[in-house]
Amino acid sequence: MSITIKSGADLDGMRLAGRLASEVLDYLTPHVLPGVTTEALDKLAHDYITGVQGAVPAPLNYAPPGYTPYPKSICTSINHQICHGIPNDRPLKNGDILNIDVTVIKNGWHGDTSRMFVVGEGSIQARRLCQITYEAMWRGIMKVKPGARLGDIGHTIQTFAEKSGYSVVREFCGHGIGQKFHEEPQVLHYGRPGTLEELKPGMIFTIEPMINAGRREIKEMPDGWTIVTKDRSLSAQWEHTVLVTDTGYEVLTLSAGYPPVPEFVNAPAAAA
Ligand code: MF3
Ligand code: CO
Ligand code: CO
Repeated sequence: MSITIKSGADLDGMRLAGRLASEVLDYLTPHVLPGVTTEALDKLAHDYITGVQGAVPAPLNYAPPGYTPYPKSICTSINHQICHGIPNDRPLKNGDILNIDVTVIKNGWHGDTSRMFVVGEGSIQARRLCQITYEAMWRGIMKVKPGARLGDIGHTIQTFAEKSGYSVVREFCGHGIGQKFHEEPQVLHYGRPGTLEELKPGMIFTIEPMINAGRREIKEMPDGWTIVTKDRSLSAQWEHTVLVTDTGYEVLTLSAGYPPVPEFVNAPAAAA
């Protein structure tokens, strides 16, 4: 197995799938309120993906080796949950932080993206964790260009997160994506510059750092999916699907309702 290079019509397929995934998050945003259950968000997302977008929610019944089939259409990870939280009937409460992770399949192509939501008014600490994680993802994205290496992305994310007083989850990573949900390569969110695979135009992968307010260690819950911080500290994650272009990167999972991109993204000199 090796890293697939996408071109031509593949890219149109990936651009459409990416935009649709982001539009699901746009659609859910006004519904993320105290009192709403994650099961209700899952149903809204399922019906929108299948009914309006004519697409397929990739998580539903997804069963990688060693896993039981995932039972819902989106992942919802609250507070100390790091990733793969399963929507349930517990109402969101004021101050919760919530990651919603959406992956759609459209015409055989996958688009994968997630955002953080602060329910009602969050604490300053919770909002800072979400903001730093957002900036960490974008700093990683900005490293993407032909000739750069995967280790450059991981190093940038790790350095920024740790300098901010946080830790980076090691056990889960970004991934190649296309006609399969998870392809090569693995995109670690830590590492050393100049190491690992060299980026080439046409590669498509996700960057999806999971950043903990406390220690980096994780624990898997008995449901076989939900991953939490071992020390029960808060955790945040953002995710984009990114194409390596001839000159840099193209983020495929943007849409009309996407939150503002950090200022340093369009003024790269300020990022140093
Ligand atoms: N969307 C997740 C990712 O970013 C994977 C979720 S797998 C699921 O890779 F089965 F839990 F949906
Ligand atoms: Co992903
Ligand atoms: Co995802």
